[in-house]
Amino acid sequence: MTDKHHNADTTSAPEGYTVNNRGQAFWNERYARKDFVWTVTPNRFLAAEVADLAPGRALDLAAGEGRNSVWLAEKGWTVRAVDFADVALDKARQLAESRQVSARVTPLVADLLTYAPEARTYDLVVMCYLQLPQDEMGPILARAAEAVAPGGTLFLVAHDSENLEHGHGGPQRPEALYTAEQVVAALDGALEIEKAERVERPVETDDGVKVALDCLVRARRP
Ligand SMILES: C[S@@+](CC[C@H](N)C(=O)[O-])C[C@H]1O[C@@H](n2cnc3c(N)ncnc32)[C@H](O)[C@@H]1O
Repeated sequence: MTDKHHNADTTSAPEGYTVNNRGQAFWNERYARKDFVWTVTPNRFLAAEVADLAPGRALDLAAGEGRNSVWLAEKGWTVRAVDFADVALDKARQLAESRQVSARVTPLVADLLTYAPEARTYDLVVMCYLQLPQDEMGPILARAAEAVAPGGTLFLVAHDSENLEHGHGGPQRPEALYTAEQVVAALDGALEIEKAERVERPVETDDGVKVALDCLVRARRP
């Protein structure tokens, strides 16, 4: 099965977009269309990595339109879905309602540059395709790691730096890309690393199936 998720990430940016103008307004504008920008199916790697975990409290950072939050809720997780794009979270709320799991998905509008989740609280912290520069990702990752409860898991997947030259789609700004090694370095021993690797994600395109390169990190608090 292929994952169409990031076909949409190669569409042209709204007028006025610059590298330094990728804030809430940019994302809200992008999410303003009626249909979903991304798919409503969960990220394939998240689905695989979470399959063996007992449901508990989950924190979905940069939750977007909620495809992963809603899927987790369907699996029995209680999810806090955080994003600064309120337009996206409204769609997440609607998706949760349509799947009858709204009681288990709580959206929260917050900027991850400053948002500090409750420490050692979540059995699962998820970050999917949050593409910010290293100096911004570092503190966000530290706070995400701190939010993991004892015995809990941090799962991250993102467009890998190698994708720019060797993979399909994704952001074309090198500063928004990173590697599993950089994520591990930013975590700085806060969690036990279970997986840190580059993974291939097949993407359906009009010209057939192409391969996108993602970085994946799974880490655990003992
Ligand atoms: C590529 S989308 C991924 C959405 C979702 N994780 C998924 O996989 O479908 C990136 C998301 O990051 C959010 N985002 C970017 N910068 C953010 C920030 N500083 N604070 C909160 N959310 C942010 C955007 O609003 C957007 O929803």
